[in-house]
Amino acid sequence: MTQRSSETSPPRKGRIRRVLRRVFYAIIILIAALALYAWVTGARQEAIETGEPHMKAVVYTEYGSPDVLQIRDIKKPVPNDDEILVKVQAASVNPLDWHFIRGTPFIGRLGLMGLRKPKVPRLGVDYAGTVEAVGKNVRLFKPGDEVFGGKTGAFAEYLCTRADRAVTVKPANMTFQQAASVPIAGVTALQGLRDKGHVQPGQKVLINGASGGVGTFAVQLAKLFGGEVTGVCSTRNLELVRSLGAEHVIDYTKEDFTKGKERYDVILDNVGNQPLSGFRRALNSNGILVMIGGGGPNDGGLIGPMGRPVKALLMSPFTSQKMGMFMTELTKGDLTALGDLMQTGKVTPVIDRTYPLREIPDAIRYLEEGHARGKVVINVGDSDGT
Ligand SMILES: NC(=O)c1ccc[n+]([C@@H]2O[C@H](COP(=O)([O-])OP(=O)(O)OC[C@H]3O[C@@H](n4cnc5c(N)ncnc54)[C@H](OP(=O)(O)O)[C@@H]3O)[C@@H](O)[C@H]2O)c1
Repeated sequence: MTQRSSETSPPRKGRIRRVLRRVFYAIIILIAALALYAWVTGARQEAIETGEPHMKAVVYTEYGSPDVLQIRDIKKPVPNDDEILVKVQAASVNPLDWHFIRGTPFIGRLGLMGLRKPKVPRLGVDYAGTVEAVGKNVRLFKPGDEVFGGKTGAFAEYLCTRADRAVTVKPANMTFQQAASVPIAGVTALQGLRDKGHVQPGQKVLINGASGGVGTFAVQLAKLFGGEVTGVCSTRNLELVRSLGAEHVIDYTKEDFTKGKERYDVILDNVGNQPLSGFRRALNSNGILVMIGGGGPNDGGLIGPMGRPVKALLMSPFTSQKMGMFMTELTKGDLTALGDLMQTGKVTPVIDRTYPLREIPDAIRYLEEGHARGKVVINVGDSDGT
């Protein structure tokens, strides 16, 4: 007996060491991902600058419900030599925005959000608009160009962004509203399916949360990659998801896909409503689970929706299935790829509702309910978004 336990203990010790190493890596990856996101979207410690000429912008100086948002007159930004000044015509809302307003999950406050109050008092990332001025080193754009991209502070009449970062030409056949709905949701779906899910033609792909911002792009992209697509949504959205190209739809109010007979090669999870064991049951033995997000505005806690991905990371040495979460990186290349797909009619954004800038708290409140059908868009400029 003693002999047997001494024979088995070294591998067990090795496993424990491996698991501890993975916990450590999970924490480092999480902090690095938050920092990377801040860098990509240009978030940094900022004060609200006032002065002339001014513009209207959404600002918040404390955490809380969408009621903390204010529309203030602040100084209009001036582009540096490598930047462009964009007159924002439309922006779109993402769950990321309410995470920032509420300061959740708490671990985010240890990174870029700010411990007691927001480090960056500006909000919004996704936008589309018209280039009004360019810095002297900028060759990629000229005044009058119509562009879309991602930059912290997009809920404002103007923004400055580096020309070589996450901004690209808006397809001529897309409205400002459509283009503004793309950046975070579209790039997340693209990177999730292409880079993490490695979707191949003929594979069975399930999109959990197929009718939301990310899901409506994901269904179209999974189809384009040649997948046999199953979309999970509520009854009222079954037709929408079918119309986006899903061969099969599952009404989550009537059926639990994790208890069905079907096994999938790739699951893209936008909801986080199932235990890991359920997702694993629905995957084939070499399947890939790509965890995008989950949780609502009242599910804060220290790490919020990160609990399941951390557990998945710890389990992955013991299973042939691959499971993991990733943070979207907004890149010019992927925005351009999505722009091309829209230009050629292969991907069409789905817009649920449009709000004027002054009603931004209502737009966020609506998204927080967790049942948007596609994207929620904000009309910022004086154009009607077209
Ligand atoms: N990792 C990243 O970098 C990254 C990037 C973007 C987004 N995210 C995260 O990904 C998640 C999705 O983002 P999103 O923009 O798509 O959010 P969203 O637009 O608010 O999507 C909500 C959708 O979830 C669906 N839903 C709610 N409960 C469901 C259930 N039990 N089963 C299936 N579907 C359900 C709703 O459909 P019904 O109306 O039919 O219920 C709705 O269409 C969020 O948690 C967000 O924070 C993460």
